[in-house]
Amino acid sequence: MKKNKVFIACDTTKVSDVNKIIKNTSNNKLIVGYKFGLEFLNSKNGRNYLKKLKNKIIFGDYKISDIPNTCASTIRAIKDLKFNYITIHINSGYEALKEAKKAAGKAKLIGVTILTSLDNKAVKEIGFNKNIKELVLHQAKLATKAKLDAIVCSAQEVKIVKKVFKKEIITPGIRLNSKIDDQKRVLTPYEAYKNGADWLVIGRDITKGSIKNNIQKLINHLDK
Ligand code: C5P
Repeated sequence: MKKNKVFIACDTTKVSDVNKIIKNTSNNKLIVGYKFGLEFLNSKNGRNYLKKLKNKIIFGDYKISDIPNTCASTIRAIKDLKFNYITIHINSGYEALKEAKKAAGKAKLIGVTILTSLDNKAVKEIGFNKNIKELVLHQAKLATKAKLDAIVCSAQEVKIVKKVFKKEIITPGIRLNSKIDDQKRVLTPYEAYKNGADWLVIGRDITKGSIKNNIQKLINHLDK
């Protein structure tokens, strides 16, 4: 049977926490990758650690959002870390996406749509006139036009995105229980895969408490 794929969000500044996460999440039921966000990437020892990390699927969640030249040169500056996946905000615009894609080389460039921590009220507050589903669909079309390799959206929008974006879909905002923290658009792992997500991103539900138990909980939930 095809294995489910999940990125574990290593949201910490400590190398020892990352080692613990990697040690306790390796298993033969799931394909596991590791996502490093701004917290770890900007920590004192983060860069050096990633430079030495071998034989893992690694995701640099830089969420780049800048002018085309800066997007591309940022990607060139992290080339030595050999990320499998790197994120850029689709809101950076078509020119920036195109330049970034050119610079990314072998790394897969992921376009981030509307953050899963935002709801319709929040996007209105920012100044958008469309609702989230319309915005994400619009951004997915732009990602297709810019030939991006993957999209990040909430699992609630996967079906919509699939209509216009034919490559990998990665979904954060995943919860096994009712505690959603700062996330707004959430679904369970089972629902996310059922909607057609290729990869899930899970952070706190795995990394807080007993990591081994949490991974087993995820495997049991998907086995049902
Ligand atoms: O702890 P939790 O499972 O909510 O973590 C989700 C992870 O996914 C965090 O590292 C967060 O930065 C990231 N992310 C997200 N929503 C996006 C893009 C990335 O939650 N749209």
